[in-house]
Amino acid sequence: MRSLIDIKDLSVKELDELCKTACDIIKHPKKYENKCKGKKLAALFFEPSTRTRLSFTAAMMELGGNVIGFSGASSSSSAKGESVADTCKVVSNFADIIAIRHPKDGAALSAALVSNIPIINAGDGMHAHPTQTLADLLTIYREMGRFNNLTIGMCGDLKYGRTVHSLTHAMSRYKNIKLVLISPKELRMPNYVINDIIKKNHMPYKEVTSLEDNIKDLDILYMTRIQRERFFDPKQYERLKNSYVLTVDKLKKAKKNLRILHPLPRVNEISVKVDDDPRAAYFRQTLNGKYIRMALILKLLDIAKKNPKREPLFDQKKVRYDLKCTNVRCISSVNVEHEHKFVPTSKKGEYKCVYCEQAIKK
Ligand code: NCD
Repeated sequence: MRSLIDIKDLSVKELDELCKTACDIIKHPKKYENKCKGKKLAALFFEPSTRTRLSFTAAMMELGGNVIGFSGASSSSSAKGESVADTCKVVSNFADIIAIRHPKDGAALSAALVSNIPIINAGDGMHAHPTQTLADLLTIYREMGRFNNLTIGMCGDLKYGRTVHSLTHAMSRYKNIKLVLISPKELRMPNYVINDIIKKNHMPYKEVTSLEDNIKDLDILYMTRIQRERFFDPKQYERLKNSYVLTVDKLKKAKKNLRILHPLPRVNEISVKVDDDPRAAYFRQTLNGKYIRMALILKLLDIAKKNPKREPLFDQKKVRYDLKCTNVRCISSVNVEHEHKFVPTSKKGEYKCVYCEQAIKK
């Protein structure tokens, strides 16, 4: 049995296969309409969501399966203090697969360590969002016809935006990918992404603050929302919220075959006038999200059927239990009984929390 917690849980070959299955579903939907007959997806959404939750729901329904679940922590037993892990353990008695979204980094991993059914991370805090990345990859595949040789601009909230962390991870495995990281200084890409993904994979990258000066070089512009709910200081959000607005005018400098992606929701980052430009791919990206989630559900249910035993999510032999994670957003900070687990990073003497990936020196 496999879960999808991080995009690196899938090999490049598996990513290709998922994109191919999604394209086959698009071409031959009838072939798939009963594939999940009698199966249930539990959609456990502790945080707001429109696209992700509804695309998971539509995906399971179009495969002939059913959906149970909740949206909003207040309507679940977490409001009474139940841990995510306990909730998922219980739900694994009622469903065949779980899609979970939670405000704490590492919440999906903590569930996957105890669940008897596959867990899909539908967004954990500011950490990761692998199924959004699958939607992004299918969009790149369908719009550009390639994953290699691309200059990708990521613009906006690179600190709290979990989608860009997962997308960076995915793109680090393809050839000749150049990254242009466009953000205010306060919202730069976190160190663990720069060191453990970008530098480790020798990806050429630059960190800049101006969208206008860099738009001409891009094949893909990945816009993101400034993540209001993750700011501890509302004044800082007010100051940064309109840092970038993509307008028709700014697009004049861009390549003819640029593609604009955005995980959505947009708040103000892209003028609605841009929507009519053929380069605007963000609504097509949303639809791709449904197809690739169909492919993912099929894959994980198939693996679980063949091998019901839980596959390890990290190298158990290398785990250190004596270190403590200090990240207040990490799931390990929620419960006093929560076991802290650290594994070595690529840097000598450095360890990272298995849940939130924050590194410490030892
Ligand atoms: C993103 C998310 O929730 O991380 N949205 C999504 O899943 N499509 C991005 C966002 O909320 O800004």
